[in-house]
Amino acid sequence: MREKIQSLKHAKNAIILAHYYQEPEIKRIADAVGDSYALSKTAKESEETLIVFCGVRFMAESAKILSPHKKVLLPNADAGCPMANMAVAEKVTDMKARYPDAAVVCYINSPVEVKALSDVCVTSSNAVSIVSGLHQKQVIFLPDQNLASYVALQCPEKDVIPYPGYCIVHDRVMPEEIQELKALHPDAPVAAHPECRRVVLDLADFVGSTSGILKYAAESPSPELIIVTEEGIRYDLEQQSPSKRFYFPGRVPMICENMKKTALEHVMWALEYEESEIEIEEAVRQKAFGCLEAMHRGK
Ligand code: 13P
Ligand code: SF4
Repeated sequence: MREKIQSLKHAKNAIILAHYYQEPEIKRIADAVGDSYALSKTAKESEETLIVFCGVRFMAESAKILSPHKKVLLPNADAGCPMANMAVAEKVTDMKARYPDAAVVCYINSPVEVKALSDVCVTSSNAVSIVSGLHQKQVIFLPDQNLASYVALQCPEKDVIPYPGYCIVHDRVMPEEIQELKALHPDAPVAAHPECRRVVLDLADFVGSTSGILKYAAESPSPELIIVTEEGIRYDLEQQSPSKRFYFPGRVPMICENMKKTALEHVMWALEYEESEIEIEEAVRQKAFGCLEAMHRGK
């Protein structure tokens, strides 16, 4: 399958992008592996005319928003992000009516219709810098209430109004579990993703995106670290630092089922038949483009 994927990819001038939470077999055949921000940038800047996006729907949608003339495929059409699906356009419109002076900031984990209603998009790697650079004091932040709370803490000059969404994988980690891990590994620093609850982030030595966590782990002098994000990143951590040990919360394993829905077969079929194409109504895409472009200009 790997050989067939490579030959189809060259024949069709395609690029394969994979998020860190994808299975190792997918990351091994990808041209670029990254966090949401890096992948959206690669999708925008790449010269290939066919993008096979191994991630979840909002990521492939973002690529299509930025590159309307390219064909963007989501190899398994069922791979969605439950948090993104919590962001409902009607509710966002209601919030905008209630807070007419507020900037509307949407996390990239949101559907295209919600991006079309927002002023600027952010990812977990640039949310704090983009929000702190806004001229408005009031900021509607959606859909992740945990990232909103983290941004509010980092930007005390802003009045952050959160939307009640959350990630079903990161939000279920409780502080007691981190305390247990810290008791077992007292010298291991804790690196956590900002989609975790504030009470969990309060116990972390570092808070950042998936690529931020990888960088922190590479630079840390500690031979062991406690990692609080989806377990797919273990592969990249171990590739990067084979001699270090990484401990993850395990009461309920941090596994995003949607991120695991893409298998090699799906990538091969996507390249062969070019189905599961992302299609977006042009008027909606243009509005969402402004939101994503504002993010790329802002960083
Ligand atoms: P990153 O932007 O850190 O890659 O995170 C994406 C995501 O879905 C985290 O759950
Ligand atoms: Fe969505 Fe959470 Fe899965 Fe990331 S880990 S794709 S936010 S459900």
